[in-house]
Amino acid sequence: MHGYENVLIVGSGGREHALGWKVSQNEHIHKVIYANGNGGTAENIPILPTKINELADYARKNKCFTIVGPEIPLSMGIVDGFQAFDLPIFGPTKSATKIESSKEFSKNFMKKYGIPTSDYRVFTDYGKAVDFVNRIDYQAVIKADGLAAGKGVFVSNSKSEAIDAIDLLLNKKVFGDSSNKIIVEKKIVGDELSMIAICDGKNFVILDSCRDYKRAFDNDMGPNTGGMGSYSPIPEITEIEKEYIAEKIFQPAIKGMNTEGSPFKGFLYAGLIIEKHTGKPHVLEFNARMGDPECQPLMMRMQSDLFQYIEAAEHQALDTMDPVEWKKKYSVCVVMTSKGYPDKYETGYNIKGISNNYDPDLMLFHSGTKLNQDKELVTAGGRVLSITSIGNTLNEAIERAYKEVYKISWGNDQQQFRKDIGFKSLQGQV
Ligand code: GLY
Repeated sequence: MHGYENVLIVGSGGREHALGWKVSQNEHIHKVIYANGNGGTAENIPILPTKINELADYARKNKCFTIVGPEIPLSMGIVDGFQAFDLPIFGPTKSATKIESSKEFSKNFMKKYGIPTSDYRVFTDYGKAVDFVNRIDYQAVIKADGLAAGKGVFVSNSKSEAIDAIDLLLNKKVFGDSSNKIIVEKKIVGDELSMIAICDGKNFVILDSCRDYKRAFDNDMGPNTGGMGSYSPIPEITEIEKEYIAEKIFQPAIKGMNTEGSPFKGFLYAGLIIEKHTGKPHVLEFNARMGDPECQPLMMRMQSDLFQYIEAAEHQALDTMDPVEWKKKYSVCVVMTSKGYPDKYETGYNIKGISNNYDPDLMLFHSGTKLNQDKELVTAGGRVLSITSIGNTLNEAIERAYKEVYKISWGNDQQQFRKDIGFKSLQGQV
């Protein structure tokens, strides 16, 4: 160990809970502390992820290695802030986070370095964007340029839907300054998946395949959310496809970020689509962090010691590491949310039916939960719990996760969850 004995996890979601759970399995870590954590994380400190100086102060005094979960502190420069004081931290710098925080940068970057992605144009003017949409002979995806908590992407099925999205973003400014600019891109039809790599600025180690469910309701209906569930691996993704993704997407991305003067250290997340007609993966977006809820099943299946890889990344030594080992099993994560999420919802409801003693094939990762004054677990956010299982088959993992979901309740009219997580691969189609 190099002057640290604890890990500080920045964030409060299911992703952070799962990351902390996994790194706590490293024998050298004394304890894992969450800033600011949730009702399921054992040791929390009341410092928000955006309070960079306070976090740095805490990390220095408590000998912490820091791992950052969400994009907002990354885009504010938490890594630069820590590095200025020589504090060990895993995540990209502010300038490298642009790969997620500006869709315009990201699309221009992909084009420049030959990373497969769909054709696009950038607009700030409503009239010009509408004029463009009226002239194209394909369906469009409209995206806010800046960060929008996973909700700034509108996949349109008609010109009028595309124009409504342009109006919401450029005129109504539903995401504030994040939608001062928009991207209009060609819609690709195909199966989506998420591939995530641990990167050290020069080298990367790719993790196994995963798929998340972004829409709120079954059969991919309803609005986009932060994520309603996920599973790993995706059985229909072949080793050849994974090698192609490593070679044609991650390699040029890592090299390109270096050339741009923004070496990427951290989790690099490629949201991909396998184009139906050509079978070729295209990048829908890059994220500068681990996915949520992709993290939950990935951590359940990861056999190797995550923290060893993170330490190797800190020392730019990922090229000395073996490929990550995975349990040859499936993992499924069902996210239970407050009723109404991602729009309006109420919180403060008592959560019943949680066991104190889960077997190793099941984990409950918390996000929007907290302990109230009476030390009871209550809901405190949109996404509340990630029920994550392991099974020998995908079917077994699905059944195990849902069996647990049906035991947990904070009132039938106050909770919601999708009932079809994992089914895409069961049916052999997306
Ligand atoms: N699961 C989508 C995301 O983390 O952005």
